[in-house]
Amino acid sequence: MKMKVTKAVFPVAGMGTRFLPATKAVPKEMMTLVDRPLIQYAIDEARAAGIRDFIFVTARGKSALEDYFDAAPELEATLRKAGKDELLQTLKATNMDSGAIAYIRQHKALGLGHAVWCARRLIGDEPFAVILPDDVIAAEKPCLQQMVEAHAETGGCMVAAMDVLPERAHAYGVLDIGQDLGELVSVRGMVEKPATGTAPSNLAVIGRYILTPSVLRNLSQIKPSAGGELQLTDAIAAELADGRDVFGFRFRGERFDCGSKAGFLQATVAFGLARPDLRDELGEYLRALIAQREAAE
Ligand code: G1P
Repeated sequence: MKMKVTKAVFPVAGMGTRFLPATKAVPKEMMTLVDRPLIQYAIDEARAAGIRDFIFVTARGKSALEDYFDAAPELEATLRKAGKDELLQTLKATNMDSGAIAYIRQHKALGLGHAVWCARRLIGDEPFAVILPDDVIAAEKPCLQQMVEAHAETGGCMVAAMDVLPERAHAYGVLDIGQDLGELVSVRGMVEKPATGTAPSNLAVIGRYILTPSVLRNLSQIKPSAGGELQLTDAIAAELADGRDVFGFRFRGERFDCGSKAGFLQATVAFGLARPDLRDELGEYLRALIAQREAAE
């Protein structure tokens, strides 16, 4: 019987240098998309997929994340007294059950693979998910839920996948495609950040993974590669060498690269326009702005 995926790893140790000076004192995962921090989107997606154990791999300077998911009794009491029930519910939705989140520290920035390896003892011997909070995915059915459902049929390892422009492939982990069934792709190789012109395809890995525990063993054997870091991509690719299955999953949804400024701004606009309470005002502003620019050209 295939085991259910109930644990997820959230690598949140990165320094967020691309967003300095904002990230000097605020973890990048706490940056706000409309009115919720990025990490909240990741947690909500994990919950929707049936995840019950949340493992944060953090680092120094990230304590705001721990406080965010803690209860805030004074704030709750104030809102209750003021009769602000809706806000109170919104606030309470951020509380996590005691014991549901574990925080472990990555002491050195040795790469995504190393961050996931740091969680090995908490994962144990079962399949687990990895969510990179920088990749925000707007979807009718949350991306990880789509993957958990597909994974229940396939088993093995599964990575979220998206077709990208050939000139952008160098920024991703890229799949060498065996059989392309449309939504599902069987993978025969993977390469992290291929040099321009050498990518095996245009199908890139996006930050959602369902992995088998053998990937954790591979992580203790791989050597640093792209960027001198221990890459998760290499540990997943090692599964193929051992004759085990890896699948790419073309999710239904729109992905925003909130690790980049342009991506973050695009997500802000898209998520703002998707909100009934903001849609009209924001839409009107954008239309006027575009009209003004066109008139000036
Ligand atoms: C990471 C992964 C890469 C993946 C990307 C998706 O890279 O290493 O394989 O394609 O996330 O966002 P990073 O963006 O952290 O450099």
